[in-house]
Amino acid sequence: MVSLRNVPPTRTLLEVLREDLHCTGTKEGCNEGDCGACTVVLGEAQGEHIKYSAVNSCIRMAHSVNGLALWTAEDIAAQDGTLHPAQQAMVAQHASQCGFCTPGFVMSLFGMYQNHVCQGQTISRELAQEELSGNLCRCTGYRSILDAAQAMAQLPPVRVDESDLLLKLNTLRQSTRRLEAHFSYISPLTLPELLEARADHPQAQIVAGCTDVGLWVNKMHMQFEQVLDVSRVAELRRVEDDPHHLAIGAAVTLTDAFAALVADRPQLHTFATRFAGLPVRNSGTLGGNVANGSPIGDSMPLLIALGASVVLMSQRAGSIHHRDMPLEQLYTGYRKNVIAADEVLAWIKVPKATPTELCRVYKISKRFDDDISAVCLALNLQITDGRVMHASIGVGGVAATPVRASQTEAALRGQPWTLETVKTAMATLRGEFSPISDMRASASYRVQVLGNLLQRFWLESQGLQSINLESFTLKEAAL
Ligand SMILES: Cc1cc2nc3c(=O)[nH]c(=O)nc-3n(C[C@H](O)[C@H](O)[C@H](O)COP(=O)(O)OP(=O)(O)OC[C@H]3O[C@@H](n4cnc5c(N)ncnc54)[C@H](O)[C@@H]3O)c2cc1C
Ligand code: FES
Ligand code: FES
Repeated sequence: MVSLRNVPPTRTLLEVLREDLHCTGTKEGCNEGDCGACTVVLGEAQGEHIKYSAVNSCIRMAHSVNGLALWTAEDIAAQDGTLHPAQQAMVAQHASQCGFCTPGFVMSLFGMYQNHVCQGQTISRELAQEELSGNLCRCTGYRSILDAAQAMAQLPPVRVDESDLLLKLNTLRQSTRRLEAHFSYISPLTLPELLEARADHPQAQIVAGCTDVGLWVNKMHMQFEQVLDVSRVAELRRVEDDPHHLAIGAAVTLTDAFAALVADRPQLHTFATRFAGLPVRNSGTLGGNVANGSPIGDSMPLLIALGASVVLMSQRAGSIHHRDMPLEQLYTGYRKNVIAADEVLAWIKVPKATPTELCRVYKISKRFDDDISAVCLALNLQITDGRVMHASIGVGGVAATPVRASQTEAALRGQPWTLETVKTAMATLRGEFSPISDMRASASYRVQVLGNLLQRFWLESQGLQSINLESFTLKEAAL
């Protein structure tokens, strides 16, 4: 167990590891969550089990790992020096060249080993690719690294002693259970505690997974005197499965939130895996994405198309208050929203799939993996007897906030689902917004691609699937 004193609220986990504890096996590459060189694995007690999550230590606040188990590349070999399968497979497959990215890859492999190999699951090429999408190797040694991911299961098995670890984590939990108002890092465990802390400290910077805020600290050098961390509030970490909607707590990680959304609408799988890389999805929360309100944030166009609403909560004069509103009404301008100084975003309520809906979401970015959208278009149409009964469309990358395409919805509603209707709607969609040009795309590209995506949606609705990148395989294309 490691105990540290006087850690400033915005000191990152990577700084503590390398500079305070001198564990320099974990590397700093980009310091902004992109490259994965700083990947470590966290372990959290969940009932009788440990939940393992690979995360980026460079944008994670050190205080947020209080009470959790943590493994770095220094921790996973046996005491006699025998390498862990995640390390041995990298050696055997010649998967390290300059080696700078290697500790991060090893830790992502360790997370994969715990979550899949130890559960008796095979690691397919696709799974390895998905789970390593947050690790970059500048020497492009990807083939051998993917081979290593698949080879781990063939090596002599190694198991974490989970019962011993659970005992330690439970002891730690009891001893760290304190919430004091003068703390510079407040991390409530229950919703009433959070609402009280928010009412008492409206100036404190709210953080959840810190995958946005971590960049403000590292790249914009912002410091906060007091931080209010919502990520451990038990009520907000639940997904509640109502017959008509999913109520996703604001502190549910993107990994878990997308798992719930994909279980209801399996076609969202690829989109979910294209949201950042796994270490960012393991820390970042759905609530953080929605509250941050970036116009190029990915979940909001989808949530708008699905008709999601948000619940804001506060404690006023000793009683608890709720406000519900459609998600798009949360935003008032570029990164501005209606959340009051004493409120928190508590829930995101997402209506469930219906048998007649046709729902797709398209993300256009310069790179397929781990990149931010230039444009994002999400469509949810109810088509009955060849007619559009309901149209709900969310768009990102075309305005100061994520937006609903109301004019295009009107152009579709009540119309026969034909190419003619689609062509009219494409023209409406292209004219509905005035996007800006920036490093991700020019305004004219954004306008053009919006219409093209609607056309793709139409073609897919007619059974043409081969226009999707998912259906593109390098092997077949090379024939
Ligand atoms: C490498 C990298 C890749 C990324 N890729 C993508 C991507 O593909 N698509 C995408 O959309 N985003 C992406 N992001 C951005 C980021 O990961 C997401 O926006 C994420 O969902 C933020 O969640 P968080 O929990 O980390 O929020 P934080 O950084 O902790 O907080 C973000 C903001 O939300 C506020 N906030 C958080 N929770 C609450 C709450 N409950 N109530 C009120 N306010 C709250 C905070 O005060 C802060 O203003 C990426 C980031 C990185 C570093
Ligand atoms: S140093 Fe690059 S992701 Fe952390
Ligand atoms: S081995 Fe060189 S960056 Fe990965």
